[in-house]
Amino acid sequence: MIYPIVKFGDPVLEKPAAEVTTFDDGIKKLVEDMFESMYAARGVGLAAPQIGISQRIAVVDVTFKEDPGAKLVLINPIIIHKVGRQRSSEGCLSIPEFREDVTRAKTVTVRAQDLSGKFFEHTGEDLLARAFLHETDHLNGKLYISHISGLKRDLIKRKIKKLVKAGEW
Ligand code: NI
Repeated sequence: MIYPIVKFGDPVLEKPAAEVTTFDDGIKKLVEDMFESMYAARGVGLAAPQIGISQRIAVVDVTFKEDPGAKLVLINPIIIHKVGRQRSSEGCLSIPEFREDVTRAKTVTVRAQDLSGKFFEHTGEDLLARAFLHETDHLNGKLYISHISGLKRDLIKRKIKKLVKAGEW
């Protein structure tokens, strides 16, 4: 099932999501739907709050279907290590049509649980490192625009306000 993507302005995007404690078929189905929704929206990462579900679950595929082994499910993820710096353009399915340069760590290790509740660690570089940070931020109610200057952030918010008024958001 493809869920619509929740857009900036919905409070679900700005509150911390709840920890997952039950690893049942419901979670498996939700993760399947999240991948489907992410691909439909042409994204490489999606957090559950972005489909209106405030639970600590994120899916990532920085290869966008090219490598089935690159599909990652992160349940209750935490960033345990980050090193280096990278700066490049970043966007978010919940803030469509906008992009800004964001400085992030270059190499990031995440610790998370898989669909069976088993803990694992995964280290990513560049885009994958960025995805780990971006999606984990989502689960903490934080959006990438919190990492850009206040001036740029206000400009984006003003433009979104206009779009909302025009019924285009
Ligand atoms: Ni996002």
